[in-house]
Amino acid sequence: MKVTCGTDIIEISRIKESIEKNGKAFLERVFTENEIEYCESKKKQKYQHYAARFAAKEAAFKALSWKIGDKYSVCWKDFEVINTEQGRPTLKIIGVDLKDIEDIDISISHCKEYAVANVTVLSK
Ligand SMILES: CC(C)(COP(=O)(O)OP(=O)(O)OC[C@H]1O[C@@H](n2cnc3c(N)ncnc32)[C@H](O)[C@@H]1OP(=O)(O)O)[C@@H](O)C(=O)NCCC(=O)NCCS
Repeated sequence: MKVTCGTDIIEISRIKESIEKNGKAFLERVFTENEIEYCESKKKQKYQHYAARFAAKEAAFKALSWKIGDKYSVCWKDFEVINTEQGRPTLKIIGVDLKDIEDIDISISHCKEYAVANVTVLSK
């Protein structure tokens, strides 16, 4: 049994600038349809939620980098954050072979300036 984790912190202003500058092209390159729908539903707070998902994807890469290695080329949309009805985030992985991975957990937090995410992976 092996446990790996990854964490990331990001300035929300960085993501806000990218969205304002590159609009839909940036959003559709980095975030899935479900993620865009979730963040846009947060109206004025949406940049915090986008930044948190960006951090989540970086954290997921860190937690899985030992497995991704040279074998897979992953892109942003290979990692998707989906919230349960209670608001708890879950991480869906699309582009990586999951056969040795037993469980994944994610935690997210954001305030006015920063967003952070932590991903923990349990593998065989
Ligand atoms: C859910 C809760 C923990 C969020 O915390 P917060 O300080 O308001 O906000 P944060 O920025 O730190 O966290 C927001 C993220 O929490 C995550 N979250 C929301 N509900 C969650 C839940 N039920 N379980 C785990 N994570 C949750 C989400 O990922 C959310 O970000 P997202 O909407 O972009 O996905 C908080 O609103 C809450 O309910 N607190 C109650 C705590 C309590 O009862 N304490 C007393 C005893 S411990």
